[in-house]
Amino acid sequence: MADFKRTKIVKLLAYGEIGSKATVMGWVRTKRESKGGFSFVEINDGSCMSNLQVIASDRLPNYREEILRIQTGCSVKIMGTVVASPGKGQKVELGADAVEVLGWADPSSYPLQKKRHTFEFLRGVAHLRPRTNTFGAVARVRNALSMAIHAFFQERGFIYIHTPIITGSDCEGAGAMFKVTALDLEKIPFHEGRPDMSKDFFGGPAFLTVSGQLEAEVYALSMGDIYTFGPTFRAENSNTPRHLAEFWMVEPEMAFCDLEGNVELSVSFLKYVFAHVLRHCEEDMDFFNRFIDSSIIETLESLVDQDFQRVTYTEAMDVLSKAEAAFEFPVSWGSDLQAEHERYLCERVFKRPIVLTDYPKQIKPFYMKTNKDGKTVRAMDVLVPRIGEIVGGSQREDDHDVLLSRMKETGIDPESYWWYLELRKFGTVPHAGFGLGLERLVQFVTGMANIRDVIPFPRTPGNVSF
Ligand code: 4AD
Ligand code: MG
Repeated sequence: MADFKRTKIVKLLAYGEIGSKATVMGWVRTKRESKGGFSFVEINDGSCMSNLQVIASDRLPNYREEILRIQTGCSVKIMGTVVASPGKGQKVELGADAVEVLGWADPSSYPLQKKRHTFEFLRGVAHLRPRTNTFGAVARVRNALSMAIHAFFQERGFIYIHTPIITGSDCEGAGAMFKVTALDLEKIPFHEGRPDMSKDFFGGPAFLTVSGQLEAEVYALSMGDIYTFGPTFRAENSNTPRHLAEFWMVEPEMAFCDLEGNVELSVSFLKYVFAHVLRHCEEDMDFFNRFIDSSIIETLESLVDQDFQRVTYTEAMDVLSKAEAAFEFPVSWGSDLQAEHERYLCERVFKRPIVLTDYPKQIKPFYMKTNKDGKTVRAMDVLVPRIGEIVGGSQREDDHDVLLSRMKETGIDPESYWWYLELRKFGTVPHAGFGLGLERLVQFVTGMANIRDVIPFPRTPGNVSF
């Protein structure tokens, strides 16, 4: 079946030479008959937003038995000749020499109709939703962003490190981890009234990682600049438009770097990926601008040039406590920021992305470097309009004794982190890094409102279908 002469529609539409032969395979979006004995079939193969128009004449041998019966959703193979398109918009069409129906799609049961479906309905048919314009565009932009992320770090000499997915340590200390076990849940071995994890596969408790950071630090403290980019998992029961139980995180980690260097990297990084999609995903971005958020292109363009606003947590609290807006969660120094506060600061006060630094230590994990005031840590979050937090990072505590006492304060067992502590004993250096949630980035760039619609198969509380 592999047909290496097959042309992707994106290539054909851009470079197809009039009079040349081409073979195209894809799925039928629509079809209509003309009075002159022709069928016009619109084909999409996922390579771009545009469909290819195919003209099939009633002189084709299977016209009556097959071509006339073609409906939305059928898969087809078309061999034909590239012809100039009389219509506006596209330069070329394909005049069919042969139309082969590879797979039928019964219109009485095929869930995708020509009309627009709600995103909620489409979540129920996640096996078919990439055949819609929106989900095709999301998949292509997500692909482009992923490659831009690698390009950004590779151009700067960062080494890509694969950190583990199964781990024995809890990076964020939030306790919202999925357990990994090979024990038979019907016959759990007990020891002194508690499950005996020493009998489990790894000889102790194991989890799905919430972040690759701790292992990333190991490699940064050998190789300088590194990044990890992989799936991460959180078992928090958050049913919001910006939380997933499984999401992809990019985490750079830099040795010989402080909070300032970290802020600088995160801002250049975001600008780079915004510029990349504007340049490389023009057709898809036009679509999002027309149908999802009419300000999205303008917003991204302005961000590429604009400075981000620098604000400390203490300054932000000051602004928020004087705000006229009624918040669901009241604020006072020491409380964590909710999405409503983050959005208020970005959308109403500063009207641009914000880099918020120096949070109180009690609301941040043990590994962040304590400031001289003893009360705040060198944390930085990047907040953007509509989404709120898109990046979270910090300079790391590089002093062995301070780190040890922070662990004890926050109830973390230093013994299970002996290797992490040893990094501060042997050639410790200032270092820093951050994490960016890929889905929040895709959401921000496309304007899509719900995070469930920017990952192919969302995992959320109560939902692990597909
Ligand atoms: O702020 P977080 O929890 O930071 C860390 O995990 C650090 N260890 C990163 C580091 O310094 N290397 O998560 C980082 C980012 C958030 O800013 C957000 O974009 C995303 O990951 N994120 C989520 N995205 C989707 N669903 C969730 N449940 C998310 N939790 C965090
Ligand atoms: Mg965070």
